[in-house]
Amino acid sequence: MSTIAYVKNILKDPNIASITPTSKSGVREVCSKMNLNQRVVIIEYGPATGVFTNYLLERITDNSLIVAVELNETFAGILENNIQDKRLKIHKDSAENIDQIMDQYDQKADYVISGIPFSLFTPQLRDNIVKKTKDVLNSGGKFLPYQTFFQKDRHLKDHLTKHFSSVQDGYFFRNIPPMRLYEAVKGEGKYF
Ligand SMILES: C[S@@+](CC[C@H](N)C(=O)[O-])C[C@H]1O[C@@H](n2cnc3c(N)ncnc32)[C@H](O)[C@@H]1O
Repeated sequence: MSTIAYVKNILKDPNIASITPTSKSGVREVCSKMNLNQRVVIIEYGPATGVFTNYLLERITDNSLIVAVELNETFAGILENNIQDKRLKIHKDSAENIDQIMDQYDQKADYVISGIPFSLFTPQLRDNIVKKTKDVLNSGGKFLPYQTFFQKDRHLKDHLTKHFSSVQDGYFFRNIPPMRLYEAVKGEGKYF
């Protein structure tokens, strides 16, 4: 179902940038960098049909919050129709507006996960999103973008290094296509 929705949608919207959702093992790998045993605020950029969202809703505490920001109207509608959970707030919007979106919640995030395609964005948009992401995180919070393996440093890593105090990256091969994973920490870490 999800792959069909992706294929139909990508023909109309190149920003989807993938024809299939992230694999279960890819989702587990990204989420293993979060501590979900306490209340957390998670922002998710580009949830599409919710492969990460559903995984996280099964694991976060009852008082945690996920703020999902999806630019594609069809995907945002699918998410709204398929997931009814008071811990999930869905915004049909762009990640570049995350500062205004988070003003509504009056709290900062512990984690931001992101599958949005930085390589398709202009350098200015990449930098805006990375800077605003740092600003909406708590000190010690993490930005965890997952991208396709062929991504160049100038597409994302250089911007992460500019704005975050610690940046690590690596490759994950149990996904088609393989992924490039990043872990950018704001200030002193209190999580791991
Ligand atoms: C490669 S898909 C990832 C989908 C899903 N998270 C997964 O792991 O399978 C990228 C998603 O990002 C969304 N997207 C692209 N640009 C965006 C932006 N500026 N703000 C929010 N979502 C965006 C697309 O509509 C699409 O749903």
